[in-house]
Amino acid sequence: MISIEPHVPLAPYTTFGVSAFADSFCRVTSVDEIRELITQGWFTKRFLILGGGSNVLFLGDFHGLVVRNELLGQRVVHETEENIVIEVGSGVNWHSFVMQCIDHDRGGVENLSLIPGTMGAAPMQNIGAYGVEVKEVIEEVKGIDLSTGREVTFTNEECQFSYRESVFKHAWKEKFFISSVTLRLTKKNHVLRSHYGAIQNILDQQKITSPTLRHISDAVIHIRSSKLPDPKQIGNAGSFFKNPSITVAQFEQLRERYPEIPSYPSENQLIKVPAGWLIEQCGWKGKRVGRAGVHHQQALVLVNHGQATGAELFSLAKEIQRDVREKFSIDIAAEVNIIESAS
Ligand code: FAD
Ligand code: EPU
Repeated sequence: MISIEPHVPLAPYTTFGVSAFADSFCRVTSVDEIRELITQGWFTKRFLILGGGSNVLFLGDFHGLVVRNELLGQRVVHETEENIVIEVGSGVNWHSFVMQCIDHDRGGVENLSLIPGTMGAAPMQNIGAYGVEVKEVIEEVKGIDLSTGREVTFTNEECQFSYRESVFKHAWKEKFFISSVTLRLTKKNHVLRSHYGAIQNILDQQKITSPTLRHISDAVIHIRSSKLPDPKQIGNAGSFFKNPSITVAQFEQLRERYPEIPSYPSENQLIKVPAGWLIEQCGWKGKRVGRAGVHHQQALVLVNHGQATGAELFSLAKEIQRDVREKFSIDIAAEVNIIESAS
């Protein structure tokens, strides 16, 4: 029988490390245990599924059940000379899985090296980095419908992936426990993506002309380690905001005022501008408000300088959003999932 613990500190289970307690807490290691919780009625009350806690900010104590996902295991679904299709338990650590792929020369996820968190959270926001999004390798996502206990499978198309978005953040939000993710990886003729400037620079510096998956992964790990703060050293949840997309007309107006503004093509003929640049222009980079702050190398990352509360970090985020709106007339939305104390 599944054990439910009362009044559990959540700081060790999140990368922001803010102090918050869960009224109730449990770990699930099998689909049967998820069904047990359904039968006991836990999902008809307030609950939160927690993976690695690297994309959440608790605003205070959580008045409900926190379910920590520890569904492990993997199996090969199908294999040809070119590809391998693997179903992976949603509690598996994402970066460990990427390293396993590199070790076995399986291609597709190397650009996503060193992203913290679990396999199951990867489709939630369609994790992405260095020119690749996880939607490119996902075949299907399986999970448990928390109202019926039935297993439901979503094809890649049904996941409705887009930049940091999926159906799991919208129509299926808080209704679905992702139990496994099935990925298709290459076994040969890997399509290497080194077009993201900094990766190619590193390969050039090292005079690598025929890169392997490991070369790409190492380059990504090198870039990330030099830019992004390590949550073990200083609490953070990666990019706090999403990069906003604006219309071409809005972008042209901005470029008249700021000729150096960086930009990238985006979905639906919009133009993506880096929120980190916008925030830096507002003077926030490296600033500190009490125990909360903006990272000195990456303005998109909010940091916990020690003992900051979720409310303090959230209040800083709102100040930043207000300044960006005033200066650029652009709304920047949080990427991090903000968890209220009660619904
Ligand atoms: P959690 O934070 O535990 O949960 C995130 C959300 O998903 C919550 O709403 C939770 O309820 C829900 N959820 C989690 N598991 C399940 C499940 N099994 N079923 C249903 N819902 C679930 N992200 C990127 O996209 N690209 C990056 O380059 C990147 N870099 C980062 C760097 C750092 C230093 C940090 C700290 C974070 C970074 N992130 C990045 C954000 C984060 O790592 C990802 O969003 C990751 O996928 C979150 O995984 P998690 O298991 O920690 O999810
Ligand atoms: N920039 C600044 N100032 C800053 C930060 C960035 O001017 O303080 C500029 C950079 O000079 C560059 C541009 O913004 O021209 C983009 O910067 P970077 O390459 O660091 O990427 P990002 O847009 O800040 C995004 C993702 C990251 C992902 C990296 C690499 C989002 C919200 N963030 O960051 O993902 O790792 O690209 O692909 O899309 C995350 O989601 O948590 C995350 C870390």
